[in-house]
Amino acid sequence: MRLIEGDARRLPGVEPATVDLVVTSPPYPMIPQWDAQFAGLGAPSFASMHDRLEEAWAAVHRVLVPGGLLAINIGDALRTGPEDGFRLWPNHAEVLARCTRIGFRPLPYLLWKKPMNRPNAYLGSGFLPPNAYVTLDCEFILLFRKGDLRRFPPNDPRRSASRYTRPERDAWFSQIWEVRAARQRNGRGERTGAFPPEIPHRLIRMFSVVGDTVLDPFAGTGTTLREARRLGRSAIGVELRAELVRELEREFRVPAEGPRAPAAPAPDAPVPRGPRGRGT
Ligand SMILES: C[S@@+](CC[C@H](N)C(=O)[O-])C[C@H]1O[C@@H](n2cnc3c(N)ncnc32)[C@H](O)[C@@H]1O
Repeated sequence: MRLIEGDARRLPGVEPATVDLVVTSPPYPMIPQWDAQFAGLGAPSFASMHDRLEEAWAAVHRVLVPGGLLAINIGDALRTGPEDGFRLWPNHAEVLARCTRIGFRPLPYLLWKKPMNRPNAYLGSGFLPPNAYVTLDCEFILLFRKGDLRRFPPNDPRRSASRYTRPERDAWFSQIWEVRAARQRNGRGERTGAFPPEIPHRLIRMFSVVGDTVLDPFAGTGTTLREARRLGRSAIGVELRAELVRELEREFRVPAEGPRAPAAPAPDAPVPRGPRGRGT
């Protein structure tokens, strides 16, 4: 297990072509929870937020082995922009296009459908057409490969030790996953954006073998790292926020590597500058 306090756009200390699988969920552009962090990176608009994320996807491309896989959990946003009015901000389409442009090969993606406690919470105008809108109750898990398939020697014992069962295969390789969301607040009452362990559990079992190295460049509360370790994979976590890194150090009992990043604002912190939710 390695913890790195640093920026996903640089992945300091992660050597080229050393990571077999990346499982991650970045801050979502146009979701108010992440405005302060994007503003801290000089990114107030949809396009500039994706410019910053694209730098991270390029860094991930560099550290993946040939044939390595990238799984990105991301949701779209609904928000009023000053010029556009109320509209959808299709984060999944932007990440798909940008990762493809970087050189990743896109694969069929997954739709993570979260069972809702209040299924009609956002319908808008009761039962009268035409102004209601469809609930955003799915997130995306975008899947990419770097180049051609990974090659293994015949009868590789690591590969057979990593076998999934037929029921697992049938459920996991179909496109819609119904998985309940994780608790969204930590002990300090902050929203974490954590995904439930079931999401990285499935992805790690589907797309890596025992002994592989799994990276989460936006490690957060460490859900991917915890699952990777439990499944006999080596884990590398990169996280910008020092308080989160200190918590990961305490849990995993490993000192984080530097270089230390400048302090990153907490989610929900006041936005230092620039308009909120501009859509350029
Ligand atoms: C959506 S959360 C990830 C949650 C994680 N999947 C979990 O289960 O806890 C995104 C994380 O990325 C971190 N982050 C934002 N920008 C970053 C950057 N440039 N480099 C590294 N981490 C960053 C945030 O501090 C936050 O913890």
